[in-house]
Order: sequence, then C-alpha cells, then structure tokens
Amino acid sequence: MVVAVTRPTRLNISQAAVTHNVQQVRESAQASFVFLAVKANAYGFGLVPMSQAALAGGVDGLAVAVLDEGLALRQAGITAPILVLGITLPQYAKLLADNQVMATVGSLAWLETAAEYLSPDGPRLQVNLAVDTGMGRIGFRERATLETAITYLKAHDDIFDYQSIMTHFSEADSTEEDYFHQQLHCWHELTDGLPMPPLVHLANSGAAMYHADEMPTEVIRAGTVVYGVEPSLGELRDDDYLEPVMTLETELVFVKRCHKGEGVSYGHTYYTEEGEWIGTVPVGYGDGLPRKMQGFEVIVNGEHRPIVGKLAMDQMMISLPGELPIGTTVTIIGRQGDVENRLEDVADYVGLAPWEISTGLQERIYRQITD
Ligand SMILES: Cc1ncc(COP(=O)(O)O)c(C=O)c1O
Repeated sequence: MVVAVTRPTRLNISQAAVTHNVQQVRESAQASFVFLAVKANAYGFGLVPMSQAALAGGVDGLAVAVLDEGLALRQAGITAPILVLGITLPQYAKLLADNQVMATVGSLAWLETAAEYLSPDGPRLQVNLAVDTGMGRIGFRERATLETAITYLKAHDDIFDYQSIMTHFSEADSTEEDYFHQQLHCWHELTDGLPMPPLVHLANSGAAMYHADEMPTEVIRAGTVVYGVEPSLGELRDDDYLEPVMTLETELVFVKRCHKGEGVSYGHTYYTEEGEWIGTVPVGYGDGLPRKMQGFEVIVNGEHRPIVGKLAMDQMMISLPGELPIGTTVTIIGRQGDVENRLEDVADYVGLAPWEISTGLQERIYRQITD
C-alpha cells in the first residue's frame, strides 16, 4: 500500500465537525459511553486519523469489524477500548486478550473453543455477546442458549470478562417503524431478567437519534452521524444539525486552451468548444472515484465545473471557466464559499449509498486531520 504524499490530492477530516457531531449524538441519546464504528478504514475516512479525531472529539471507544483493524489501532498507540463487531476465529482468543480487544460472540461453542487458547495466568478475554433480534446476521437467537452462555462466562471468569452485550437494528432511521419495534420487543423477550454486563448497547446512529427514549442508550455504537451523514438521508430530519466531516481536494496540475472539437480522455466521450480551457487533476478511479462521476460538477474558484471525458485511473479533466493557474484548488467533496458538494451528492449522482463511495476511497489518498 502506497500513500501518495507528493501529489496535491488529500482527504481532510475536520476535527471541529467530528467534535460537533459526537456532541449531537451523545446529547440525543444522553449517552455516557459512545463507541464510534471505525470499521472498513473508518467508513473510508482513514482508520487511524479518524480514530484519533474521534477520540479527541469525545468518543470513548472504537468499534472495528475485524481483529486486524483493532491491532492496527493498538500499533498506532491507541489505548481506548476496542470492540470487534464481527466474529473472530476463536483460535485468536489469546491475541485478542493480549491486546485488550473485545470479541463479539454469538455461540457457546465459540466460548468453549476460545477457552482452549486462554489461561488464567494471562489476560482475560473481554466478551461482547451479540443477540440477534432480527438483523439476521450474527448472535444468540434463543433465550435459553444466551442464558447458558452467560452462565458459562460467569463460571469461567478467570479467563473471560463478561463486559458487554448488544443487538443491532435492521432499520431504525425510517418512518417505517414496525420492524424496529418487533426487534425491540424481541430484545426484551430474550434478555429481560438475565444478568447484564457493564456495557449494554442497542443503538446505532438511527436508533440514537430517533428512538433514544424507547431503550437503554447509556452506551451507543454510532457511525453515520459522527461522519456527518444524516441517518435517514433527510427522510426524518434535515441534516443541518450535523457538520460534514470529509473534504476531498486536489489541485490543477496541468491547464490548456483547446480548439473546437478536440477529444478529451479515453474514447473521446467529450469534445471541446473553441477556446475552452481544460484542467487536469491528479486523482481518478484508481483512487476509488466511480467512473460514473463523468459530468459531476466539482468546485473550482467558487463555482461548479463539470468533469469532462472519462475518468482515467489516476487523472481526470475538468472544464474550467477560463485560464487558471496551476495549483488552483479543486474541491470534489467540500465547500468553497457558498458552493458545496457533500459526500451524499456524489453518491446520488452515481446512484450509490454514501458509504459505498467513501469505503471505496483508496489508501493511496493522503488523509489528514484539519481544524
Ligand atoms: C454492529 C454495528 N453497530 C453499529 C454500527 C454503526 O451504524 P451507523 O453507521 O448506522 O451508526 C454498525 C454499522 O454498520 C454495525 O454494523
């Protein structure tokens, strides 16, 4: 993996926006402990810089999808609680415990196998029990098996530390609430009266914003809102209470004046007008920008200007309002004056979800925290 630090293309993470968004979701849920989901390279924003910005912005713990992401955070010197949301192979129980990374567990069999790799002489393995209330992904589905697992954990508390229990909603950010209520009902049926650990967390962003009065939200696992995206994408509420976190910027590295009818990029899907100024920027589909972004309007000199011709792997061309100096900032996602492109605008343009765009942004793009 090569990070391109020598080209003027960068993804900025706004510290102020992260701090603001953490406050918004914490207040809405009245949460005392906020996990930020930083899986998949922190939704593409950059695992380490985004985690650092989030911790500086007030989150208490980080949630990753796989152990390797947790280890990368530990290697970066992060000491905050880390929870792996997916199932880790039980053979890695000792590696989890040695690094104080919490494992999500959905069966007694997992605990029994993990026990073979743990010893009372070593650190205890922190356990988060997953309860499947209707997401249909991972977790205990029956009260009896959940109860057996809790009993097992308590009987083996020299190697296991029963720290946490959770469920995950399939839909908590829409006007369609029936299924959400079914899942909540199922949670109560499966867990009410069972011994609860210190961390009990049901809510993701949508539940934290729209259902906080219906369930325990002292602990939440947020992603979407902290990244500055409204969970319902505007269906339940305008997004003006959030601040966009990501700016994706580049600069003109080549500028030319063209004659009428000159073809631009592979396959000449665009022909210039007489006297049209065309600028080239060093970013392309090899960085994760979808090729369908041809025609999308980036921001140059405070105005929207279209990407012309096919995006190439490493470069793309923009129709300029006139001659502009090399080094002029080109904002793909972000704001110049009153003109703004949000991540959601790119997603809309190409017909994908915001996270499909951001998680596709490649490691080659240099990421940094700005004020
Ligand atoms: C188990 C789990 N919890 C929390 C989150 C965060 O969800 P959101 O981004 O909707 O806040 C996710 C994200 O997909 C998840 O898989």
